[in-house]
Amino acid sequence: MMDVFESDYEKYDSWYDRNKFVFESELKALRKFELKGRGLEIGVGTGRFSQALGIGEGIDTSKNMLKLAQDRGVKVKKAYAESLPYENNTFDYAASITSLSFLKNPFLVFKEVHRVLKSPGLLLVGIIRKDSPWGDYHMKKETGFFQEARFFYPEQVIDLFEKTGFTYKAAYQTLFKGPKDSDTNVEIAVEGYDKGSFVVLGGEK
Ligand SMILES: C[S@@+](CC[C@H](N)C(=O)[O-])C[C@H]1O[C@@H](n2cnc3c(N)ncnc32)[C@H](O)[C@@H]1O
Repeated sequence: MMDVFESDYEKYDSWYDRNKFVFESELKALRKFELKGRGLEIGVGTGRFSQALGIGEGIDTSKNMLKLAQDRGVKVKKAYAESLPYENNTFDYAASITSLSFLKNPFLVFKEVHRVLKSPGLLLVGIIRKDSPWGDYHMKKETGFFQEARFFYPEQVIDLFEKTGFTYKAAYQTLFKGPKDSDTNVEIAVEGYDKGSFVVLGGEK
């Protein structure tokens, strides 16, 4: 199977330049959680989110995506999220930002993240909600990156938390407007997961 992230990494990365208010709105939702200590992004991609949030380390399967993340100051490793190259109890927090949709085995990834997190430790999962305006937009393959993606409902993430030893703490949402008019200003981020296209859920170890 062709890896679209490996071949089109520059196109993926520049999407955020063309949609900077989307990026800023998503950051706002992610910043509702306090991130302290040593952090790891799973599926770090080109490292834009890690750089902006101060997440020091990241793993990804795509060498080309990782190169850009490294240029942004993130300490990277090429690895599968299903098998993390870290000792038990290593990180204070971990984040998966829109990467859940691409993971072959999310259950295994959550278990792996649980293993490498300290206790207490926090896992943030940022998703583009299934059946939301932005979810529908990406599902129609308009950007080309989500052809292999599976979209999730927030409830499914909460279920995964519970099945892998996490306690669900809170969720924040943003992107209340659709793709047609989202990129005119930064949107608010509020608690909950029922209305926004982008939802961040926090689970604690
Ligand atoms: C939609 S991108 C998100 C990148 C970054 N988090 C962002 O929001 O810009 C998904 C990323 O997950 C990576 N990925 C897919 N499957 C993976 C796996 N099993 N383990 C680690 N990374 C994976 C892809 O290579 C890609 O960089």
